[in-house]
Amino acid sequence: MLDLRAAQPDVLVLVGTQTGNSEVVADAIADALGDLGFAAHLLDMAEAYPEVLADYRQVVAVTCTWSDGTFPDNAVDFVEALDAVRPDLSGVRFGVCGLGDRDYDPYYQTAAMRLVGLLRASGATEAQPLHDIDGGPTADDVAGAVAWAVRCATAFAR
Ligand SMILES: Cc1cc2nc3c(=O)[nH]c(=O)nc-3n(C[C@H](O)[C@H](O)[C@H](O)COP(=O)(O)O)c2cc1C
Repeated sequence: MLDLRAAQPDVLVLVGTQTGNSEVVADAIADALGDLGFAAHLLDMAEAYPEVLADYRQVVAVTCTWSDGTFPDNAVDFVEALDAVRPDLSGVRFGVCGLGDRDYDPYYQTAAMRLVGLLRASGATEAQPLHDIDGGPTADDVAGAVAWAVRCATAFAR
């Protein structure tokens, strides 16, 4: 069990998805964070607004990239608002897990990379580099994402 004394218990787990794969990965991440003693709050990006990020010190976002490098439909309004509002996220640490497919080069993971850029531009700090899933997600991909989320949690607790 991680020593969570240096971490806030609450983690926001944001999900951007078109066909549900990112939700599967986000659910597994939320379960793993819960097992570590965090309170993981899953939120569909369709229900999210920029200021809610500032209510959390720790954010894990899982999003796919959709056609020609765009965000999935449920994430578009949230991302546009984040770009427009640029809330002060200087107290926030985050990680982004991207789902994509190299067959879509040169648009591989462009939405996830853009989200990292927007969060950084609002002053948030990346706890772990972008974790990318290419195709799938297979059971191994989900396990890899969970291992990455545990590394995020370790950074949160530091
Ligand atoms: C129509 C379509 C367009 C896609 N466009 C991209 C893309 O531009 N870049 C990329 O990296 N992946 C792309 N993908 C791959 C998806 O990101 C991948 O299938 C992902 O697992 C979907 O996640 P979701 O189920 O959460 O929506 C595309 C997939 C489809 C079916």
